[in-house]
Amino acid sequence: MFVQRIKFYRNIQYYVILSIVAAVAPALYGGQNNKKNETVGTMEYVLEDLEYPKNALEPYIDEETVRLHHDKHQAAYVAKLNDALKSQPSFSYSGPLDALLSDLDMVPEPIRTAVRNNGGGVWNHAFYWRSLSPSKSEPSPVFAKAIDKNFGNFENFKKLMLSSALNQFGSGYAWLCVTRDGALKICSTQNQDNPLMFDADSKMIPIFCIDVWEHSYYLKYRNLRADYLEALWNIVNWGRVSERYDYAVAKKRVMP
Ligand SMILES: [Fe+2]
Repeated sequence: MFVQRIKFYRNIQYYVILSIVAAVAPALYGGQNNKKNETVGTMEYVLEDLEYPKNALEPYIDEETVRLHHDKHQAAYVAKLNDALKSQPSFSYSGPLDALLSDLDMVPEPIRTAVRNNGGGVWNHAFYWRSLSPSKSEPSPVFAKAIDKNFGNFENFKKLMLSSALNQFGSGYAWLCVTRDGALKICSTQNQDNPLMFDADSKMIPIFCIDVWEHSYYLKYRNLRADYLEALWNIVNWGRVSERYDYAVAKKRVMP
């Protein structure tokens, strides 16, 4: 009886020690830290939450489209970006994604295309969602003046922006950007490219974008991209775009 009791207490001791080791080990080796992977020394990017409920853009963008677009498509870009970075443990980077995309030459060649496509997919989508809002807002007086100066008037700007989005062949984006000399310029890009990736001479600072991949509109609008674009105009976050304009002109870089 006495011997059995000693064995029992020894087992308890082992159990307590094992429990302590199990609890402390992940903290020591970074297993509890989901923002930074200590093994590769590179940021592990996370899926950014939307600023509004997924049904908040109704009726212009339906809830199911937002769910699929954000929870599946955008999430897949995040996972593939992290996979690519993890596959090159010698590459260490912990800065913002926009700076990485602005200087893709720093990325090891074997994963450069994956980082370009999936990193672009992560950044562009976050930028797109933050360009939209269920709350109505107007361009600031300063931004409105810049629109008039660069495009004649707001209606003409809208026409040119929608035309760029409509005529983007295949998947891509239409962008409103600030150039190096502070002018506003519209352009479009293919796939998940963005104006941060342009050559040094033509690089621009994005302040607004429209996703024209079919996954952004096909469930509700089918093949009618023009209808999606016209509807999207009702939910542009002009307050945010105006802030981005001010930031780009003052700081010469994209607003975080
Ligand atoms: Fe998209």
